[in-house]
Amino acid sequence: MTAPVIAAHGLTKRFGDFTAVDGIDFEVPPGESFGLLGPNGAGKSTTMRMIGAVSQRTAGDLTVLGLDPDSHGPEIRSLLGVVPQEDNLDTELRVRDNLIVYGRYFGIPRSVCATRADELLGFAQLEEKRNAKVDDLSGGMKRRLTIARALINEPRILMLDEPTTGLDPQARHVLWDRLFRLKERGTTLVLTTHYMDEAEQLCDRLVVVDKGRIMAEGSPSALIRQYSTREVVELRFGSERNAEAATRMAGLVERIEVLPDRVLLYAEDGEAVLERVTDLGLHPTTSLVRRSSLEDVFLRLTGRSLIE
Ligand SMILES: Nc1ncnc2c1ncn2[C@@H]1O[C@H](COP(=O)(O)OP(=O)(O)OP(=O)(O)O)[C@@H](O)[C@H]1O
Ligand SMILES: [Mg+2]
Repeated sequence: MTAPVIAAHGLTKRFGDFTAVDGIDFEVPPGESFGLLGPNGAGKSTTMRMIGAVSQRTAGDLTVLGLDPDSHGPEIRSLLGVVPQEDNLDTELRVRDNLIVYGRYFGIPRSVCATRADELLGFAQLEEKRNAKVDDLSGGMKRRLTIARALINEPRILMLDEPTTGLDPQARHVLWDRLFRLKERGTTLVLTTHYMDEAEQLCDRLVVVDKGRIMAEGSPSALIRQYSTREVVELRFGSERNAEAATRMAGLVERIEVLPDRVLLYAEDGEAVLERVTDLGLHPTTSLVRRSSLEDVFLRLTGRSLIE
């Protein structure tokens, strides 16, 4: 087995009395695309910051590329590419200069920075914006520039904290495509997200985190197999009537979830269940049969919906 590029055992971060990351264990092998999926406040960014050697752990073991962040912070930072949750581009500088100046921090010679900057502008599809002001970029372009900037030092691991939050669907797809290319080239990706579809698209393997703890671990498809059924029937009876309808449907399936706005019936064959709902004389205002997703896994594990 190849040595993991990141190994965390009992990794813990406390802020005063509050435990943000509560003794988590995971390993990331080289070339993997690894995800932390969880709701607001789960401890995702805190974990990313400990890996990135910008926040010191309170307890536990952590190695990044075989190095301990406590003693090898600068070395680790030079080997990682970091896309933080909030863009922190230099608004005083133009687009291309953001890349070059960032590269210079790592002591990369100016001519090398310039060559890489031009390649990365191509990769990020920002050639036409090379001399634009950062403030004049769209949200999706800023995100692409931040990713390009994180790649200037040819990092061994690219860390992405919520790479597409706040972007429209089209901008998200452009970003996914760029990240997929990096993955194909063998870059190790570590990303956080609270989008199930993003985790399903990009992650080879992920951990579901909630309140600083890992609830489950596996590939998206393995997690769905383990924690959900093949299909889900989503029914809406109106917020006043969902609970009562759920009681009447109790015998139909092994598991029913009543959410504020809909009832979810977990089944292998959704259409067959839907017929039996109609046989009971129930008439939902809307009905939908869909495949199970990571959202269902999260709901099963935490009793809460990830969509806020
Ligand atoms: N510097 C800090 N001081 C005190 N508490 C903190 C600090 N940083 C984070 N926390 C707390 O730790 C918890 C985890 O925060 P974190 O930012 O890691 O969550 P997250 O999973 O990234 O959430 P989000 O999806 O909202 O970005 C939160 O309750 C947060 O308030
Ligand atoms: Mg965060």
